[in-house]
Amino acid sequence: MLNYILGKNLALYVKRHRLLVMCSIVLTAISSLFLVVPAYLIKPFVDEGMKLGTDPVSWKIPWIAFDGGSWLSWHQTEHVLVDNISPNRLLLLLTGVAVVSTILKSITSYFGELAAAAFSNRAVLSLRVDVFKKFISLPLGFHQKRKSGELIARATADLSVVQSSIVTILIGLIQHPLSAVVFLVYLLVMDYKLTLIVFFAGPVILGVIRLFGRKVKKHSVRVQDATADVTSAYQETLLCLKVVHEFSKGGYEANKFKNLAQTLYKRAMRWNYWNLGTTPILDVTVFLFMPVILVVGKMHYHHSLGDIMSMVYAFSRVYAPVKKLAKINNRLRTLQGATKRVFRIMNTVPAIREKPDAIVLPTHKDSIEFKNVSFGYEPDEPVLKNISFRVKAGETIAFVGSTGAGKSTILDLVPRFYDVTDGSISIDGIDIRDVTLDSLRKQIGIVNQDTLLFHDTIANNISYGKPDATSEEIEAVARAANAHNFIMAQPKGYDTVIGDQGTLLSGGQRQRIAIARALIIDPAILILDEAASALDAESETLIQKSIEKLHGTRTILIVAHRLSTIIQANHIYVIESGEIVEFGTLNELMALGGRFRELYDMQYRNSG
Ligand SMILES: Nc1ncnc2c1ncn2[C@@H]1O[C@H](COP(=O)(O)OP(=O)(O)OP(=O)(O)O)[C@@H](O)[C@H]1O
Ligand SMILES: [Mg+2]
Repeated sequence: MLNYILGKNLALYVKRHRLLVMCSIVLTAISSLFLVVPAYLIKPFVDEGMKLGTDPVSWKIPWIAFDGGSWLSWHQTEHVLVDNISPNRLLLLLTGVAVVSTILKSITSYFGELAAAAFSNRAVLSLRVDVFKKFISLPLGFHQKRKSGELIARATADLSVVQSSIVTILIGLIQHPLSAVVFLVYLLVMDYKLTLIVFFAGPVILGVIRLFGRKVKKHSVRVQDATADVTSAYQETLLCLKVVHEFSKGGYEANKFKNLAQTLYKRAMRWNYWNLGTTPILDVTVFLFMPVILVVGKMHYHHSLGDIMSMVYAFSRVYAPVKKLAKINNRLRTLQGATKRVFRIMNTVPAIREKPDAIVLPTHKDSIEFKNVSFGYEPDEPVLKNISFRVKAGETIAFVGSTGAGKSTILDLVPRFYDVTDGSISIDGIDIRDVTLDSLRKQIGIVNQDTLLFHDTIANNISYGKPDATSEEIEAVARAANAHNFIMAQPKGYDTVIGDQGTLLSGGQRQRIAIARALIIDPAILILDEAASALDAESETLIQKSIEKLHGTRTILIVAHRLSTIIQANHIYVIESGEIVEFGTLNELMALGGRFRELYDMQYRNSG
């Protein structure tokens, strides 16, 4: 049932809180039953209680009697609840019953809704956490293909829709049909022939509900897509705010954003046409049936005023839930749109996966080997072709080559940010696809070409890989990265908060913090992608010195853009168009007089 309403995926989350769901259903059902009591009170209230004088009256309710105990033969009758009572006392009694039933209805519906709020919020809590985990577990390739703003919209806007809809839908699907049925039964008992008129209205009403539901679903998906675009625009512009200012494109960006916002507005309005349109259309349809009851009831069936009043009340009570069900149906369609989008991400199978029998990689102490490695970000566009090399533990190797040659890509394959398309990479003879991601990545310290830092203190940024690091440890790695002195010069030293992406620091300072951050986990393997941009002379020397200090204690793979770095390497590999074109020591390569010599003459002579 839940599967059918919410869809299998979402239902799984709701079902974890079965007990609360049951509580909520039972309480809501009870409260719907109390709702019908007033209808039973109107007739005696008007017909008996309002009588003048003191002649005793009685309180009767419509009843069905079965003749001879058989289900098939029955007749309509009345059941006396209270007999021989003065009209005034009957009025008091009826009022008392109405008050008590209203109180009971309110209490049960309050707790019913509370239980519903609890299970839906718990379900969304788990879903929200799972979506976040999924974002993290999906490979980098997945994220690079999508705007992060779009993903944020999924995690926020779509999940809010889910959260606010589950309760309304589930409670509504119990409450409204139940109260409609209860009142319908009352009406049938009162006068089944008259009530059958309702059934002519049925197909018309259902048709309207279905048509509007379909439209609402279609437009809700469009609204959510536009919301994602707007979220992306915020996010992208904030990220690139500096560029926007540089080119003074504020007006242009604002205009672009205005267009997106207007699209969102237009789509939201279209959604509203259909969503809000449901009710008036239904009202008109039903109004055509309502007078028929009054006219036919009075003229043909000779009902009393109390009968007619209570039947009209009951009719409106059958109709009100139906109208609400139409709205619920719209909500449900909106929810289905949002759920589909959230679970499209949730059901993406990450391309980088651990084998079920993955082993823990022992501490690296022998060698890292690439064997005929080929790789492409897109299947038909190879970026690396047949790369083979071997580096012994404790050695430093450098990759050089023109921009876009594939140097950073080689380094990204070692921690399995991407998997090779052909060939293999092994550490100490073990294929890295056979080990757990955790044990692999814990041994690798990485310093990227573009340093990403969190909006947090310097100390917390450095200790990110080892949150329990003592301040002595943090200082030690900062010293090793030659970062200690400039950190101490900051207003609050290690407790200085650096802005998002470390914008308050220079490029060289950021990279030295990144080196300290990589060293805190005491990695056996260090991967260093030198910033291609020129660093200030001081930073450059300091970074060189820190690399020098590490030399020999760990295996270092480095993409070198500076001669001083290259000099320290045991072996140098020259990469061009994804292939190793030359390799050897600095002297060997210089003597060879090939591509390396060319690069050296072009780039390094001046800067080195
Ligand atoms: N995420 C990605 N998706 C698709 N193609 C990519 C991706 N990252 C890099 N590439 C492509 O792969 C090739 C190699 O890129 P890579 O970043 O490895 O070059 P590089 O040698 O590090 O260059 P640089 O010296 O400028 O840092 C380039 O042609 C680049 O366009
Ligand atoms: Mg690079």
